[in-house]
Amino acid sequence: MEFDYLRRLVKDFSAIDIDAGKEYLADLRLSPLLPDQGCESVQELLQQLRGKSFGGVHRKVVDAMTNNETWFFRDLHPFTALGDEIIPELMKKRASDRRLAIWSAACSSGQEPYSIAMLIRDRFMIPGWSFSIRATDISTPILERAKKGIYTQMEVNRGLPAPALAKHFTKSGSQWELKSEVRDMVSFDLINLSQPWSGIPTADIVFLRNVLIYFEVDVRKRILEQVRRVLRSDGYLFLGGAETTLNLDSNFERVQFGRYACYRMKG
Ligand SMILES: C[S@@+](CC[C@H](N)C(=O)[O-])C[C@H]1O[C@@H](n2cnc3c(N)ncnc32)[C@H](O)[C@@H]1O
Repeated sequence: MEFDYLRRLVKDFSAIDIDAGKEYLADLRLSPLLPDQGCESVQELLQQLRGKSFGGVHRKVVDAMTNNETWFFRDLHPFTALGDEIIPELMKKRASDRRLAIWSAACSSGQEPYSIAMLIRDRFMIPGWSFSIRATDISTPILERAKKGIYTQMEVNRGLPAPALAKHFTKSGSQWELKSEVRDMVSFDLINLSQPWSGIPTADIVFLRNVLIYFEVDVRKRILEQVRRVLRSDGYLFLGGAETTLNLDSNFERVQFGRYACYRMKG
């Protein structure tokens, strides 16, 4: 199989480093694209793409190779820290301008930013306060899904407490649709974290969870450096359970909140 070409294609566009020896993953993820492309095998599809300049089908291949796994209130403890400690602390600090901006970078199908939105709606909707939640990802199809806010039974069974399901969703056939009052709290945009960022507004809290692990060390460093330009000096960075700033960016320090540690800038 043209696995080396596939690895390069994915890496050049998204910076995602697919491990050598993951040929089986390519077969599994790219097979569904074959009928539309009139190809009989993944090998044939990749051979066709190799001869053409980067276009829509190349993008579909990169999307298919991306891990979009996510769930509501993923790992729980980050959301406990957010609701019990971090939002209250920052609301005290922002008492004069009464605004908080949260960025969910690499938001996948929306469960992460919508979990933040539900938490804020349930606990912090105080008149006069404005909360902006911006969610971004590299994949257009996943963002289209996220914007709809429609989830399967299996997706709402993952992490979403029953009272939140009853309160914030309506049943729509066999699926669950997030109510517009929560959906409208989140805005979605396409942002490739591995390219230079432009036009990203300052944020008080950045969720950058379960995406750095797919990048090589240099890319992680570059991304963290850019996070520092976007994050307010007293703001907080949330990473995934297997991720850290340690040995990547010495400007961050780890701060423990109960059973979760997040990061803020030193000084
Ligand atoms: C495993 S999901 C994590 C979703 C969510 N943050 C969470 O923790 O549940 C990783 C997401 O990162 C996105 N992603 C991968 N490479 C990216 C890049 N270069 N720029 C922006 N997003 C990227 C993928 O499309 C995918 O939706």
